[in-house]
Order: sequence, then C-alpha cells, then structure tokens
Amino acid sequence: MNQNIVVDPPYFKNVQPNAKYVGSDTCASCHTDHAKNFEKSAHARIELKGVEGVHGTTCESCHGPGSLHVAGGGDKTKILTLKKDNESCFQCHIDQKAQFNLQYHHPIQEGKMTCTSCHDPHGPDAKPWSAVSIRGTNDVCVSCHRDKKGPFTWEHEALSSSCTECHNPHGSIHPKLLVQNDLNLCLKCHVQPNWPTVGKRSHSAFAPRGNCWSAGCHTQVHGSNFDDHLRY
Ligand code: HEC
Ligand code: HEC
Ligand code: HEC
Ligand code: HEC
Ligand code: HEC
Ligand code: HEC
Ligand code: HEC
Repeated sequence: MNQNIVVDPPYFKNVQPNAKYVGSDTCASCHTDHAKNFEKSAHARIELKGVEGVHGTTCESCHGPGSLHVAGGGDKTKILTLKKDNESCFQCHIDQKAQFNLQYHHPIQEGKMTCTSCHDPHGPDAKPWSAVSIRGTNDVCVSCHRDKKGPFTWEHEALSSSCTECHNPHGSIHPKLLVQNDLNLCLKCHVQPNWPTVGKRSHSAFAPRGNCWSAGCHTQVHGSNFDDHLRY
C-alpha cells in the first residue's frame, strides 16, 4: 500500500482548487455523529491529527479540503460527497485497484458498485455491516446474493467461516472470483490422510472428471435442500 501520508493529492486540486484544509475537529463541530462513529474506525487509527502539512486519514483526506464548505455554512457543492466515487479510496489503496483490474472482478470500475457497497468508510471495523469483520462479510455478500443466504436443509459448514474462504471479494484470476480453481479449493478443509478417500468414500474415480463442484458432483456447493452431499 501507498502509505497514508497524503499531502495535497492532485486529485483534490482538480476538484477544489482554492480550498484549504481545516482539520477534523472543525468537521466534528457540525457533523457530531459522523465524528463519533469515525473514532472507532480503522482509518481513525492513522488519522495523524495536528501534524502540520500532513493529513493522514482525516475527514479531508477522503472528502478533500473543506474550508469553502465550512465558510458556506455547509455548502454541499464545496465538498466531495464521494457518492459513486472510488478514486478517493484508490489514492491510498493501490493494491486494491490492481485487484479490481483482474479478469474476474466485482464491477467497481464499471460503475455498478462502489467500495462502500461493502465497506463502511466511517464505521468501526467490528460492526456487522462491514466487510472486514467475519460476521459482517457474509451479511454484506448475501445482501446482494440473496440465494446464497439459505437456510438450506443441508448447509455447507464452510459458509459459516466466511464467503472469503473460497472467493476473493475484490477480484481474481479465476472465474467466479474463486481463490483457487482446482480441487485444492475443497481439499484445504477436506483433505484426509487416506486420500483419495474423502468422507467415507474413495474419490479416485471422481477426481479425474473435473473440479469437485463441476462434472455433476457437488454442484450445490453453498447448500442444498435435496441432498446431504450437496450434489443437487
Ligand atoms: C458549519 C457546519 C459545518 C461544518 C464545520 C462542516 N460541515 Fe459538512 N455539512 C454541513 C451541512 C449543513 C451539510 C448539509 C447537510 C444536508 O443538507 O443534508 C453538510 C454536508 C456535508 C456532506 C454531505 C454532502 C451531501 O451532498 O450529502 C459532507 C460529505 C460533509 N458535509 C463533509 C464535511 C467535512 C469533511 C467537513 C470538515 C472539513 C465538514 N463537512 C464541515 C455543515 C458543516
Ligand atoms: C475513508 C474515507 C472517508 C473518511 C476518512 C471520511 N469519509 Fe465521510 N464519506 C466517505 C464516503 C465514501 C461517503 C459516501 C458514502 C456513500 O457511498 O453514500 C461519505 C459520506 C459522508 C457524509 C454524507 C452522509 C453519509 O453518511 O453518507 C458526511 C456528512 C461525511 N461523510 C462526513 C465525514 C466526516 C465528518 C468525516 C471525519 C470524521 C468523514 N466523513 C471521514 C468517505 C470518508
Ligand atoms: C489517506 C489514505 C487512505 C484513504 C484515502 C483511504 N484509506 Fe483505507 N486505509 C488506509 C490505511 C493506512 C489503512 C490501514 C489502517 C490500519 O488498519 O492500521 C486503511 C485500512 C482500510 C481498510 C481495512 C480496515 C481493517 O479493519 O483492516 C479498509 C476496508 C479500507 N481502508 C477501505 C477504504 C475505503 C473504502 C476508502 C475510500 C472510501 C479508503 N479506505 C480510503 C488509508 C486510506
Ligand atoms: C464485494 C464486496 C467488496 C467490495 C466492493 C470492496 N471490498 Fe474491500 N474487502 C472486502 C472483504 C470481504 C474484505 C476482507 C477480506 C478478507 O478478510 O479476506 C475486504 C478487505 C479490504 C481491505 C483490507 C486489506 C485486504 O485487501 O484484505 C482493504 C484495504 C479494502 N478491502 C479496500 C477496498 C477498496 C478500496 C474498495 C473499492 C475500490 C473495496 N475494498 C471494495 C469486500 C469488498
Ligand atoms: C452491492 C451488491 C453486491 C455485493 C454487496 C456483493 N456482490 Fe458479488 N456481485 C455483484 C455483482 C453486480 C456481480 C457481477 C454480476 C455479473 O457480472 O453478472 C457480482 C459477482 C459476484 C461473483 C461472480 C459471479 C459470476 O457468475 O461470475 C461472486 C462469486 C460474488 N459476486 C461473490 C460475492 C461475495 C463473496 C461478496 C461479499 C464479499 C459479494 N459478492 C458482495 C453484486 C454484489
Ligand atoms: C466452499 C467454498 C465456497 C464458499 C464458502 C462460498 N462459495 Fe460461492 N462458489 C463456490 C464455487 C466452487 C462456485 C462456482 C460454482 C460453479 O461454477 O458452478 C461458487 C459460485 C458463486 C457465485 C456465482 C455462481 C452462482 O451460483 O450464482 C456466487 C454469486 C457466489 N458463489 C457467492 C457466494 C457467497 C455470497 C458466499 C458466502 C455466503 C459464498 N459464495 C461462499 C464456492 C464457495
Ligand atoms: C473452510 C473449510 C471448507 C472448505 C473450503 C470446503 N468445505 Fe466442505 N465442509 C466443511 C465442513 C466443516 C463440513 C461439515 C463437516 C464435514 O462433513 O466434514 C463440510 C461438509 C461438506 C460436505 C457434506 C459432507 C457430508 O458427508 O455430509 C460436502 C459434500 C462438502 N463439504 C463439499 C465441499 C466442496 C465440494 C468444497 C469445495 C468447493 C468444500 N466442501 C470446501 C468445510 C469446508
């Protein structure tokens, strides 16, 4: 990651050429709720308040310098609202930008969703509705992918760990955002010393047919209402 020390990123200059930084305390004087919530977020840990010329991850490192917004008594046209805007995040999270350029990716760059579809930019990381808490991850995912929520008669216990056991949430070189595209995806949890036995059954005839979830095998890998081996 490009480290957090942001000094007047060019991105802001384009948008608000004459605005100056006023500091988070000024923002907090009107936006009390946001400021309180923000105290608990991962970004607040590196806020670097009060270091001259350095903005860390203060309100303004995302929203841009706010002097004109403040002078206008909260003029909405003088601050970056960041709705549908991922560039502010990419300033620092260059690694993630690369992930969204992989062949298979969530359609961020296509403008169909934003970082904030999954991440709360202000909130604490442990909040359920935040993709960086384990409980929160699945909640976020099934808010769009409802059919993966279940309940299924036969749940696949892998899902109670997290969707990210099998999917890279940003992007992947593999179809369906899979973290791996061969039987190791499954064997990392299901491997047994007496492979090719899995469960109580030899898989020597099945394995050459394809991946565990293709070739007509465990096609209902997220859970099934019909078959305890997740086949259909
Ligand atoms: C003098 C009070 C005041 C201060 C100080 C202030 N704001 Fe605001 N801000 C407002 C008001 C009022 C609104 C408009 C709220 C509305 O109409 O919904 C607003 C709206 C916003 C919005 C949302 C715009 C939108 O279209 O939804 C953002 C983002 C914002 N402020 C960020 C900041 C940041 C960052 C700072 C510190 C640099 C800051 N504000 C300082 C009063 C203030
Ligand atoms: C990590 C980047 C980031 C930081 C830091 C940040 N914000 Fe935001 N803020 C956003 C994004 C992104 C949105 C738009 C959310 C959306 O998609 O609706 C937003 C939206 C807002 C809004 C509009 C109302 C809303 O909640 O949607 C206000 C007001 C606001 N921020 C104030 C603040 C204040 C005050 C601070 C500092 C305490 C702050 N923000 C820090 C990224 C940030
Ligand atoms: C000024 C640089 C900067 C900007 C802008 C920024 N981030 Fe961050 N972000 C960081 C740093 C540094 C960390 C690592 C914080 C830590 O965990 O110590 C971080 C951490 C994160 C994390 C991980 C939190 C965790 O609990 O591990 C997420 C998710 C995240 N940022 C999303 C965003 C999103 C979404 C935006 C845009 C709305 C954004 N960031 C904008 C610097 C930035
Ligand atoms: C589809 C949901 C989703 C979207 C959209 C998304 N993220 Fe994430 N992100 C996640 C999940 C889930 C994790 C946790 C990954 C894990 O624990 O393995 C994560 C982790 C992160 C982290 C922590 C470090 C890492 O890579 O694990 C950062 C930083 C981050 N995201 C930034 C971003 C930025 C910036 C954007 C927008 C360009 C974005 N994310 C869009 C779901 C998403
Ligand atoms: C805001 C809605 C939204 C959220 C939240 C979301 N997704 Fe998606 N997801 C999409 C969209 C839109 C696509 C692209 C569908 C397409 O291209 O047909 C997609 C595609 C996918 C795909 C690939 C599907 C395919 O057929 O290639 C997988 C896998 C996936 N998402 C998993 C996840 C996971 C895991 C999470 C949580 C970390 C998540 N999604 C969160 C909207 C969302
Ligand atoms: C045990 C590994 C595993 C876990 C955990 C997992 N998936 Fe999947 N997922 C897969 C595999 C394998 C495929 C590809 C299936 C195929 O190609 O037919 C897939 C495909 C998908 C697809 C695209 C095809 C479709 O069926 O719509 C989406 C969307 C998806 N998963 C979302 C999720 C979500 C959301 C979660 C968490 C609630 C999750 N997955 C958890 C393995 C997993
Ligand atoms: C994160 C760990 C994890 C991953 C990855 C995983 N599983 Fe599972 N799976 C489990 C757990 C835990 C159970 C329930 C306990 C058991 O039966 O071993 C389970 C149960 C199953 C069952 C039901 C077994 C039975 O006899 O009741 C099938 C079938 C299955 N998994 C297939 C797959 C396939 C196919 C994949 C790869 C796409 C996969 N699993 C990946 C953890 C995982």
